[in-house]
Amino acid sequence: MAIERLVEPTVAQNDSEEERIEISLRPTTFDEYIGQEHLKNNIKLAIDAVKKRADGSTLDHVLLYGPPGLGKTTMAGVIAHELGASLRVTSGPAIERAGDLASILTNLKDGDVLFIDEIHRLRRTVEEVLYSAMEDYKLDIVIGKGPAARSVRLDLPRFTVIGATTRTGSLAGPLRDRFGIIHRLEYYKEPEIEQILNRTAGILTTKIEPEACKLLASRSRLTPRIANRIFKRVRDYADVNGDGIIDTAMATSALSLMEIDHLGLDPADRNMLRLMWENYGERPVGLTTIAALTGDEATTIEDFYEPYLLQLGLIARTPKGRVVTEKGRKHLQNPENNV
Ligand SMILES: Nc1ncnc2c1ncn2[C@@H]1O[C@H](COP(=O)(O)OP(=O)(O)O)[C@@H](O)[C@H]1O
Ligand SMILES: [Mg+2]
Repeated sequence: MAIERLVEPTVAQNDSEEERIEISLRPTTFDEYIGQEHLKNNIKLAIDAVKKRADGSTLDHVLLYGPPGLGKTTMAGVIAHELGASLRVTSGPAIERAGDLASILTNLKDGDVLFIDEIHRLRRTVEEVLYSAMEDYKLDIVIGKGPAARSVRLDLPRFTVIGATTRTGSLAGPLRDRFGIIHRLEYYKEPEIEQILNRTAGILTTKIEPEACKLLASRSRLTPRIANRIFKRVRDYADVNGDGIIDTAMATSALSLMEIDHLGLDPADRNMLRLMWENYGERPVGLTTIAALTGDEATTIEDFYEPYLLQLGLIARTPKGRVVTEKGRKHLQNPENNV
């Protein structure tokens, strides 16, 4: 049985309250979007160039990749906003047939931004239509069946695709090649997470003391979505157990109630580390075996658990599989972390 996780980096399904808050916290301009300076500078430059040319040319297609919760969807919204363009949102799994994509594309207007989340999950047949559309703004469709079938070529408006994916590895080469701007989102620095938490506190009109903010930032896996989620939980805790102000004492007891340790790992992370260590010790173990041990999908491990554990150096990737590192073993064996 997979453990339900607080640090789950995706938005819980059917949780409209959570979704509503997440939307209200989403920055809409470059100024509000904290961190990722390298990405922002590159995109700003590209947008300025488009605006300056004013010849009807559009922003190059943009591919954003990196672990969940780092701000890919948010950045797509910011880009559309800064371009003064309208944003159409869809996702790889939502586009079932080439015809679905054709109807999305023919409904676009000049300059529109089309955001395709989880673009690595596009079907092959859909992908092929997409890359010719991205390349020369033409859509080839076949009308009729059998000997009477004929192919027609439609002109499309000049649009910009922003694709988001947690894994570039699974993106077909020809599709990847259609993106003029490819950028990896990095984990945030702790002071940036503090800034994000302070911004969230302002929007949700909650008082948080600087020391408490530092503490929460250090437990947030350097990920804005998780920082905001922890913030909301701690805020609830402070409302119930105090006067609503988040100070260090409130933050500390709320975090221990959530069983989040000083590295930001939750019980599910520690469970995975422990299972790897107890069953394999220092030997490498394959992804599917880890998935069988924890009861998760291999893709869940790869997209959600692993990136942060790798980033911290608690596990390492080898050609033969994943291994628990010395640091990982120490973390497990430190009784302080068995919260
Ligand atoms: N750079 C940022 N500055 C402030 N808040 C951010 C930033 N990036 C993400 N967030 C917050 O984190 C949440 C999750 O970001 P999102 O764009 O949905 O991540 P992704 O699409 O990469 O999974 C957003 O709702 C937003 O509130
Ligand atoms: Mg997203």
